[in-house]
Amino acid sequence: MKVLVVGGGGREHAICWKLAQSPKVTELYCAPGNGGIGQVAACVPIGATDIEGMVRWAKENAMDFVVVAPDDPLALGMVDALEAAGIRAFGPRANAAIIEASKAFSKELMAKYHIPTAKYRTFTEEQAALDYIDAQGAPIVVKADGLALGKGVTVATTVEEARQAVREMMEDGKFGASGSTVVIEECMTGPEVTVLAFADGETVVPMLSSQDHKRAYDGNQGPNTGGMGAFCPSPNYTPEIARRCEETIFRPTLAAMKAEGRPFNGVIYFGLMLTPDGPKVVEYNARFGDPETQPLLSMLDTDLMDIFEACVDGTLGQMDIRWKDGAACCLVLASGGYPLSYQKGYPISGLEQVPEWATVFHAGTKLSNGVYTTNGGRVLGVTATGDNLNQAVARAYEAASPIRWTDMHYRTDIGKVWVD
Ligand code: AMP
Ligand code: GLY
Repeated sequence: MKVLVVGGGGREHAICWKLAQSPKVTELYCAPGNGGIGQVAACVPIGATDIEGMVRWAKENAMDFVVVAPDDPLALGMVDALEAAGIRAFGPRANAAIIEASKAFSKELMAKYHIPTAKYRTFTEEQAALDYIDAQGAPIVVKADGLALGKGVTVATTVEEARQAVREMMEDGKFGASGSTVVIEECMTGPEVTVLAFADGETVVPMLSSQDHKRAYDGNQGPNTGGMGAFCPSPNYTPEIARRCEETIFRPTLAAMKAEGRPFNGVIYFGLMLTPDGPKVVEYNARFGDPETQPLLSMLDTDLMDIFEACVDGTLGQMDIRWKDGAACCLVLASGGYPLSYQKGYPISGLEQVPEWATVFHAGTKLSNGVYTTNGGRVLGVTATGDNLNQAVARAYEAASPIRWTDMHYRTDIGKVWVD
């Protein structure tokens, strides 16, 4: 099969790395890809949100299957456009990707189908939002409705902080149109766990549980990022909690989407909080998480191409998906200054000294004259497996130790703050 993966980060490198191991995949392409993805797939210079360009290229080059990984092209309807052109595509259609693209939609869905989540109200008028905050008091959570690169959420500890967040979104247009509607939520407490699941519109099959680290600095300090590291499985996710999540969240969500005429095919990401009242949904994403995908796919034994086809064909219920025992950890090496301002273009040294038992997924690199240089905020995701979480974490740090570039930054506590 000729397969195209859309996207160009660490998640897409992990997807390509796993697909390249499938005997079914004879030709593998990635658009736009990045320096490191070039090790396993041919990179095609088409932007991930260029729907027309992508469909045209896929058609002209007779792709048998396209995997759409990032949120933007999913929300823009890339899967719909590929299907309309007669190309099989993995990922939700736009009418299902809305579960991530609009928090107002996902909150209404959960309310209608009694899926546990934080109490909330949606506002399109600033004064009403401010009055509600005054009435509720702090702590309280303010969210931009639309996609905001994971940065549209303020967990406010004071009323003033919450009011400020509303003003930035609704008055100053900090997140553009994404912030013209805001969702204001009750603040939940408890450990966070993420569960990604494969879905074929009807059946939902959870992967191992996982956790990422969103803050830039050690001890969960500093600004929110796309994720500074991740590991799987999560020690917080016991078999009893898993059973409750399946019964009260995973299966009801798939059934709700189907009942709404928006069947969900692809990967659905459940961001969960294990509150004193049981597991509740913090957020849904309509795609693989980044960097959660890097450790997860490192633990997957089953052929990923088989799973993708089953999700598209509606045959997931007949599949036996297998995972390795033990644990995996991905340590993100980032540019100094990320997620604020940072320099690109530094040569990366030490890659050839990384032990062969680890995998270096490239998130933002360029290959120029045989040398990898930095080309983004998150640059590399060094990923290792182990018999248990502690060993996987230690091995990820050990494998990353030879890698250097000017101002390289990483957290030293990945996998160690899972109880917070
Ligand atoms: P989100 O982008 O919706 O996942 O939110 C980002 C982060 O904000 C989450 O990972 C949580 O740590 C926190 N968060 C979001 N909603 C709530 C809530 N209702 N209560 C407490 N924390 C929250
Ligand atoms: N790591 C969080 C996300 O992909 O949304």
